[in-house]
Formats: sequence, structure tokens, C-alpha cells
Amino acid sequence: MSNNKHLWWQTGVIYQIYPRSFMDSNGDGIGDLNGVIERLDYLSETLGVDVVWLSPIYPSPMHDFGYDISDYRGIHPMFGTMEDFGHLLAETHKRGMKLLLDLVPNHTSDEHPWFIESRSRRDNPKRDWYIWRDPAPGGGVPNNWLSHFGGPAWTFDEKTGQYYLHQFVKQQPDLNYRNPEVLAAMLEVMHFWLDKGVDGFRVDVISKMSKDPLFRDEPPDPAWNGIRPYLSLQHIYTSNMEDVHPLIHEMRKVLDSYDDRMMVGEIYLPNTDLVKYYGTPEKRECHLPFNFQLIAAPWDAAGVRKMVDDYEAALPADAWPNWVLGNHDRHRLATRVTPVQACVANMMLLTLRGTPTCYYGDELGMENVPIPLEYVQDPPAVNQPEIAHIVGRDPERTPMQWDASPNAGFSAPSVKRLWLPLAANYKTVNVESQLKDKKSFLNFFIKLMDYRKTSPALKIGGYRSFDPKSEGAQKNCFVYERRAEREHLLVALNFSGQEQKVELPLSGKGKVLISTTMDRIGDINLAEFTLQPNEGCLIFL
Ligand code: NOJ
Repeated sequence: MSNNKHLWWQTGVIYQIYPRSFMDSNGDGIGDLNGVIERLDYLSETLGVDVVWLSPIYPSPMHDFGYDISDYRGIHPMFGTMEDFGHLLAETHKRGMKLLLDLVPNHTSDEHPWFIESRSRRDNPKRDWYIWRDPAPGGGVPNNWLSHFGGPAWTFDEKTGQYYLHQFVKQQPDLNYRNPEVLAAMLEVMHFWLDKGVDGFRVDVISKMSKDPLFRDEPPDPAWNGIRPYLSLQHIYTSNMEDVHPLIHEMRKVLDSYDDRMMVGEIYLPNTDLVKYYGTPEKRECHLPFNFQLIAAPWDAAGVRKMVDDYEAALPADAWPNWVLGNHDRHRLATRVTPVQACVANMMLLTLRGTPTCYYGDELGMENVPIPLEYVQDPPAVNQPEIAHIVGRDPERTPMQWDASPNAGFSAPSVKRLWLPLAANYKTVNVESQLKDKKSFLNFFIKLMDYRKTSPALKIGGYRSFDPKSEGAQKNCFVYERRAEREHLLVALNFSGQEQKVELPLSGKGKVLISTTMDRIGDINLAEFTLQPNEGCLIFL
């Protein structure tokens, strides 16, 4: 297939902005929309990303930092105004980039007018927009369902004498998609933003929108390691229910009624289930169901190769792949795999087949920031202090490190307190310093992004990995080729801290285009070459 048959969300690179943490333009220590506008040139010119995804910017009491929405059609004053949003959208488009908003259909805030009505009286017309149940016979919660953020998924409402369901904090009541009015209302929300010109949505917990109508208890998970209570159950009645698919198809129909829009669904499921969220040719669903496997992957070349190959094999014929290395819910890439390996991981992200999503700051090697107790604010950490270091998400949401000035160029130097503390290493790990250093983490990322832009093999070419057993590639390395009509590339990634000899069933010479070490160019012998410790190479054949 030639390049121009592919769509922007297939060939482009998505960049996730966590708006509270990207750029503070008004000196309150919290990022905002005008701040994002100030930094758009960084995204378009310096990095060359194609698609910007903004985590929620809507009015919200911020019990879950914006994922508890009290008005789907507004902008939180902390982030700016609707006019600022219009400006941001126009400026993004002016630079040739697309803008995705976060759509959160599974739950609202408990301060959303729908829920205020719903909880007002049992016979209120909006009662059934949420999931209300009587106490169990004998009292107590209706069943054993758990909140992701600790404790039961049910909260008792004294006034009306019933429990309501919330899969996250109690201020995030789940909507009831068995009532068709709810879906209709959410589709209207989609129209509202699509009419304004947004290019699509990242859809929050899309696979959880439907729940078991019989409200059966979820079975225990025998594989539970005893740490995170939510994982003690198998979530077969609150996630991935068969009848979620028609809902997603309806959402897709809204997108398809516009030109060239898309949605990417947040789904943490194994391949066999994940790929169902593409839908079928007759009933399409997500353009991309997020593929999060690399976020959780143990950093081992053979394991990662198997994961990539298995995913490739599981994809339906017309489904487009995608890869993610980090997001606002998971520990930072550089912390998970070490900063040197993060560079190798970024090379993999930008050279595997499919759409890459990069989390803000991962292009610099930003690490998790230890959060002093008085700053801890993420609900799973606050509710479960004993496992805060595992479930807390504040460490990966700290302010973007722009320069070495006080407040790292995120807020003006005079600002006294940022909403989360800065990383201790921000004086060296920041955009400005890394741009000056030719061999920096960031300059490597930029160079690879540049190459990717003009490379048909990387953007749309085929993928094949080398089998280390039968084809001789070294066992601590992941080696694969990307091939388009007129371009044939090899990617060789050394996952280890030792030098590795790579042997391949190839002959002749290849030309190193980019190495993560940024000090290697020139020809190599394809049948046998050496990778430096923690080195990844992109090689032209
Ligand atoms: C997934 C989001 O990514 C996460 O940040 C949020 O807390 C939950 N969904 C609830 O909306």
C-alpha cells in the first residue's frame, strides 16, 4: 500500500499531554490551555509529532483530576475558557497537527447535574441514568464488586436508601448504558466537540461501559499476589461484557458521520479480547484499541519479541496496530526500564509497525518523582496508603521539565508552589539543556522522529522479527526488519548492559542510520556485528 492510502492516525505519532503538568501560563502552579499553546511549536517543529491528545480539560471537582466530569461541554476555569480552547484547536490545526480530546463516558462526577437529579428521588426521570441497587438481603453492599481505587464499588445514599455503583472513586458514579437515553446523551457530547472541529477522542475505560445485568458476584482470581485488592477478583461482570460492543459501534457511527475523525479506546485486555474492539467490517468499533502490553512488559528481549509477534499474529487483517510505552496511570518508562534502556525502548516504539503514543516527558527520559507525603493527592494512593508506592500515580504526573530555571520553565520562577513537585534532576534533564547536547536523549528522539517522517518502511512497511534460535540473533537482543517497496530497514536492540554480538542470516553490508549512542555511523557487516551495551541501531539494508 502506498503512503497516501494511509490515514493520519496510522502514519502519525500521538503525544499525550497531561494538561495539569505541561505548561502553566498564569502562575497558579497548574498547567493550562494557554500554556499548551505556548509550547505547540515544541511539539510540531522540535519533535514533529502529528497528533496531540489532551487528558480531560472539562469542569470537574477534580476528585480524580479531571476524570470526574461535571460538565461535558465546558472547560474547567483552571485550564482556561472555551475561547482559549478554540484558539488551541486552531493553533494546533494551523501547524498541521490533529487534536484528540479525552472522552469519559463510563462515569460522571457526582456533581454532574444528571447525577444530582438521579440521586434526588427514586422516581426522578434520571434515576435510571445511573446504577442504583437495593442493599443485599440482610443489609450491606449489593454484591462483591470492587473499586479500582480501593474499597467496594458501591456507596450507600442515605436519602434514597439505595447504593450506587462507581468503579473508581465514590465521586465518579457509573452511568447506566442499559438506558438508551444515556447513550443518546453521550453521542450528543461527541457531536458537540466534533462540530467544533476536534479530530477525535481517546475514550476512557471503554470496555467497562456495560455491566452484568444480573449483578453477579465476581469470582476470586487465584493468581492474585495479595497486594492490590482490586486485582483479587476476576472482573468478568464489570469489564469486557459482550454487549459493550454495540455501544462502541454506535460511537463509531458518530465519528464516521464526519470526515476523517478517529477514536482510540482505553482497554487493558489480552490480545484475543483486545482485537474484538476493532469491531468487524460490518460493525466497526475503535480505530485503535490501545495496546498497552509494553507498559507492563518485563524488560527482556525474548519476552518482548514474543509479545510483539503474538500481537501481530492476533490482529485482524484490516486492523492497524499501535504501541504505547507510558501514560498518566503507569510508572514512568525511564523508571521502569532504567534511563539508558528507555532510549532503546523509544527506538522500539518509533520503529515497530503501527501508531506510537508517547507520554509527555518520555522523550526526555523523565523519571518517577518521589512524592513527599504532604503532596500525595492521587485517590488510589490516598485511599490505600500501604500500597501508595505501587498504585499512586502522582510520581508520573509531575511538571514537564523545560529548562533549568526555578520551576523548570513550567511555571514562572516566582511561583511558590507547583501542584506536584519537580524532579530533582530537572536542571540537567530538561528540554533546553538536552537540545544543546548533541548526543542527548531528546536529540536522539528527535533524530529518529525526523527519520520516521520520511521513511515508508517505518510508517507503513511490513514487520518481521528474527528468531534468535534458528536465525542466530543474540539472545539478549530483539532484531527485526521493516520493509516497504523501496526501503528495507533493520532494527537491532540490545536489551542488556553488555556488549552483544549479533549474527544474522544476511550478507553484505548495512549502513547504520541512527544509534541510541549517537556516536555510530557507517557500514556494518550484516552477517555479524556488535551492539554496544544498551544500544539500539537502525540500519539501512
Ligand atoms: C482511566 C484513566 O486513565 C485514569 O486516569 C482514571 O483515573 C480512570 N480511567 C477513571 O476515569
